[in-house]
Amino acid sequence: MNPRILEPFLQRLTMLSKSLIEQTCSDLEKQYVDYLISHFGQWRVWAEASQRVADRQSVSEQEIPEAFRTEFKIMQVIVEMQDLGKFDWKNPTLMKLFGELSQGPFYKFFGDTITKIALRLAQKAGVKTLLEIGAGRANLTKIMLDQMAAMNISLPLVTTDSQPVILDNIVTLKADYPRADMAALLWNITDPPPEELIQNVRHPVLVYERYTLNYANVSAIKNIARVADILVLGDWFNCTGELFAYDEVFKKIGAMPFFFKDIKPLLDEHFPNQHIFDQRAIDAIKLPNITLLIAWK
Ligand SMILES: C[S@@+](CC[C@H](N)C(=O)[O-])C[C@H]1O[C@@H](n2cnc3c(N)ncnc32)[C@H](O)[C@@H]1O
Repeated sequence: MNPRILEPFLQRLTMLSKSLIEQTCSDLEKQYVDYLISHFGQWRVWAEASQRVADRQSVSEQEIPEAFRTEFKIMQVIVEMQDLGKFDWKNPTLMKLFGELSQGPFYKFFGDTITKIALRLAQKAGVKTLLEIGAGRANLTKIMLDQMAAMNISLPLVTTDSQPVILDNIVTLKADYPRADMAALLWNITDPPPEELIQNVRHPVLVYERYTLNYANVSAIKNIARVADILVLGDWFNCTGELFAYDEVFKKIGAMPFFFKDIKPLLDEHFPNQHIFDQRAIDAIKLPNITLLIAWK
């Protein structure tokens, strides 16, 4: 390929730097990290209580810091199901609690933060396609579409998931956001991207996501790198090596704890530039997880 064809793309991507991200997103960093510090400051109280839930001891809701009460209730239901010897995704209490979690204040705020960062960086880096992985029920996709409208940005958006639910959702989304340039494709990120996806995107491509990698595996990074130039990852990577009872119990619903030390070599190979967006919270409250990570080629 003529290297001049790549020139504008390479120049634009090299514009992205840690200091540019800090400048571009300083207000978002302040709001997000301040929220983490106040909201999750008591995480160790919950971590210790979760051990007692796992040990089938009685734990009252009042002991649990408010920010973790829905997780506490979910964990109780999972433990009960374990004791009954059968896991039922359709358990009405469990479904109601997952609904509560996805409507909770952090979930929306987290989504707003991920999508605002993605769009601001997309503008700075001249991104031509936004790609969402693990879009599922389109909760994050809707936030992205609302943000694009609020910021008066119109970028092609491709949403993907391993489950066909994504194909049903796109019909509703297209009706609700008639001006959006949107497509949906099936993609299990533990496999290389489908040819149709590779053909459907224009570079630079920015991938944003929330709570997907934890359900797949770290080597998905290699597959994602075949189509993405910039990542805004809203997955939780354990950065201390210490796991808690809730980590073990949440494995039962497919959410695997990931260690940053395991994902780091893959990032170094495929997205060598990285910025831990919530480093200040990790330092301030010794949060055991990175919750928001930006990486680029
Ligand atoms: C907890 S949900 C998160 C949904 C959405 N990202 C959000 O934040 O609202 C996890 C999603 O990841 C998807 N998922 C799990 N494993 C996957 C894989 N290997 N490839 C692609 N998507 C996957 C699931 O189908 C589900 O939609």
